[in-house]
Amino acid sequence: MVVIANKGALERALLPYNQPMSARILDGKALAARIRSEVGAKVAARVAKGGPQPGLATIIVGDDVASQVYVRNKRKACEEAGMLSFGYELPAGTTQQDLLHLIDELNNRPDVHGILVQLPLPVQIDAAAVQQAVAVHKDVDCLHPENVGLLAQRGREPRFVPCTPAGIMRLLAEAGTQLAGANAVVLGRSNIVGRPLSLLLLNADATVTVAHSKTRDLAALCRTADVLIAAVGKAEMVGGDWIKPGAVVIDVGVNRVEDKNAKSGYRLVGDVAFEEASQVAGAITPVPGGVGPMTIAMLIENTLRAAELAD
Ligand code: GUN
Repeated sequence: MVVIANKGALERALLPYNQPMSARILDGKALAARIRSEVGAKVAARVAKGGPQPGLATIIVGDDVASQVYVRNKRKACEEAGMLSFGYELPAGTTQQDLLHLIDELNNRPDVHGILVQLPLPVQIDAAAVQQAVAVHKDVDCLHPENVGLLAQRGREPRFVPCTPAGIMRLLAEAGTQLAGANAVVLGRSNIVGRPLSLLLLNADATVTVAHSKTRDLAALCRTADVLIAAVGKAEMVGGDWIKPGAVVIDVGVNRVEDKNAKSGYRLVGDVAFEEASQVAGAITPVPGGVGPMTIAMLIENTLRAAELAD
């Protein structure tokens, strides 16, 4: 179970004012571990029947430290699930032509089922051109315009659901969140999180508002949200007073803030001020240990799906 502690809305309403309320913590780490072991079991069964091991190729261009950590974790998860992981680390000065050439090679390799080009890319590379070059049936990130189109159109089935939004939907499902008719507010309109997530929430019959840097009175809008998703990359921007009592709050942000007491000199916080938000929300994801591990679990699920599409 992802839910660790629970206080229902009614119970919450009956609490005396001076008693601190605490939200359910949605434990993405535990749920992701369960999904990863389920994928691992499916991979083992597939290989036992003589099927090929699913293979994921990851590409990083440049030496962004955060990207290196993310991709290392993705590769490790692949290997732990019995999949093949092919890592490409290209220098920061790589040309678009060289990157497109590598993608073309990977598109044609039968042992590579999924291709992930880690973002951000250096300025000399047009990310859209790169995403369009990945074969649609290997596009485990769901960034190819054809796959994004399938996701966007009503009644169409995308080949892959993009990893972070898929992870968020799984967390919401696991928490038993009622999405039909709910007011969902998505903070952030990125291609990786905000936009595709808004489509998935719409497919689940939520009433969806996508807020961004030009939105007026963000706090008031957020207070209308039964489900609030923060994906803006601004440390602890969402305060407790932005949250409707009992709301489900999903924090996608991973921000470093200085912490002299930490050995590294920093600690990770989300886009939501966790302590105060958890006094008001009905359920909330922690950072770290919420959405991040779910992104990786969804990536290995998508890689298995890519291998199945190739069968
Ligand atoms: N950079 C940060 N998150 C992601 C992701 O989910 N996919 C890719 N390709 N790059 C990222």
